[in-house]
Order: sequence, then structure tokens, then C-alpha cells
Amino acid sequence: MRLLKSTHDCLSVHGCALVPTMGALHEGHLALCRHAAETGHHVVVSIFVNPTQFGPREDFHRYPRTLEADLTALRSLGTPPVAVFLPGIETVYPRGLEAAREEAMALLLPPTATQPALEDRCRPGHLAGVIQVVGRLFDLCRPATAVFGEKDFQQLRVIEDMVAGDPARFGTLLIHRSPTAREPDGLAMSSRNRFLDASQRERARALWDALCLARHSPNVTHAEESMRDTLLQHGLEPEYAVARPATSLLAACDIDPVGPCRALIAARLGSVRLIDNAAWSPSATA
Ligand code: PAF
Repeated sequence: MRLLKSTHDCLSVHGCALVPTMGALHEGHLALCRHAAETGHHVVVSIFVNPTQFGPREDFHRYPRTLEADLTALRSLGTPPVAVFLPGIETVYPRGLEAAREEAMALLLPPTATQPALEDRCRPGHLAGVIQVVGRLFDLCRPATAVFGEKDFQQLRVIEDMVAGDPARFGTLLIHRSPTAREPDGLAMSSRNRFLDASQRERARALWDALCLARHSPNVTHAEESMRDTLLQHGLEPEYAVARPATSLLAACDIDPVGPCRALIAARLGSVRLIDNAAWSPSATA
């Protein structure tokens, strides 16, 4: 497993299957790597905690950095990645962080990034920073394919739209979706779960419970109310709990959407923000 640092180092991995991460790797990330290995391309994992996707009052400085453990976990895979890309800030943003922040603010976002009452309202600028860094990692590594988890569903949709919307830049790059890895009680695996204390960890399962209960709802309004109620009953503060068409993420208003839908939740437990989502459709048996 080679360690890559510079733009020049990346020349050797063009055509790879890229798994972009911010480190603090858990079983969910390892599942992404296994998925990437199945594509038949050499797997490259990038680890970079991207400052431009964190707001000024968010947890950039607290975000866990566990490089040695991450490398050990990657080496323990049946098929370890051929390389781990560990760029410094100067490689990702050669014009400096301030210029990068300005560039992120000026980016034209796909409509999936700005749908009301989702991430953009709660974390303004977050998805612009994600698009910026993912685009940059793609430019540096020129992967044939890249794998993202469904846990960050809006992020995944936005990246899919970014790639589809700019063939001149991204060519035939294929984005693979990987299902959310879950703990035995259903909690979606996340690098931030380590910040939950024992009581919060117990209550955090309410996200998955809410998503499962919403499957019995006959319409969007009922599903959204049911998810909010479940979160509140367990002492979580919902930021959003919505059901949306899975492709556009457009707010459905009171019209039941046609086609595949997604129920999406963001909620706070103390200082920890958790997100999750699942496929949703109106239940005929409610
Ligand atoms: O999902 C993440 O870990 C990050 O948002 C990503 C895609 C690696 C970009 O920094």
C-alpha cells in the first residue's frame, strides 16, 4: 500500500477506483473499499479532512484524525488498496485556503444541492465545499470510478449530478452507490458516533426506528410527522425529517410524489449531528 502525497504521485493511479474519505475509518468505509475492489480497478483511498465543507461554527477541529489506525484497518482488508492518497492542503488548494473558500462560495451547484429544508439550509456552504473537494480529488486522481456511501444521500446525489453535468471535465467517470453500513440496532455507521455517550448512543437508534416506522405511512405528510414524533420522543432535535423524490429531492408539498422516494433525517443529540435516510414509498396497508 503506497502512500501518495503530491500531484505528481497521483499520476500513477489514473484510472483507479477512488474511495474519497475524511479518515476516522470504520466498517462502513471498509465496505466502500470492498465495493471498489469489485469494480476490477486498483483501489485508492483518499484521506483529507476538507476545511471548505465545514462552517465556521462546525466541528472541523474536533473531527477525529486517526491516521495510524486508518492505515492498519486498510492493510487488514482482504484486498488492501494499492494506495492511500494523503494530500496536504497545498496539494488540494494550491491557491491557499482563503482563495479556496471564495471559490467554493462562487460554485454553481446542481439543484439537488439547494432543495429546501435539507443540508443547504442547516449547513450553508457544506455541499459547495464537498463538490469542490471531490471535483479536485477527481482532477488529481482521474479515477475510472468512485464509490460513495448512501448514508450521505444528498451528497451522493449532488456528486452524481456534478459528474453527469460536466462530461468535459469528468469524462466517463462512473459513480457507484454503496448501501449504508449499520450497527446491529440499525444506527448508521459514522465517524461522529464515537462522540455519543452511552445514553445518547442508546437514543441514537431512533433515527433508524423513525425511518422504519415511516414505511407504514400512507402519504408524505404522515411519514414526516411520524419521523419527527419518533425523534422527539427519544429526545433528539430534528433538523429535518422529510420524504422526497429520490432523484430530484424536490419538496413534494402535499402532492404524493410518483416514482422512487427517499426519507431523509438530520437530528441533533447534544453536540452531535446525525443523518440517515432510507428508501420510502407510501404504504398501501396503513
Ligand atoms: O463523505 C465524506 O467523507 C466527505 O464529505 C467526502 C466525500 C470525503 C468529501 O470530503
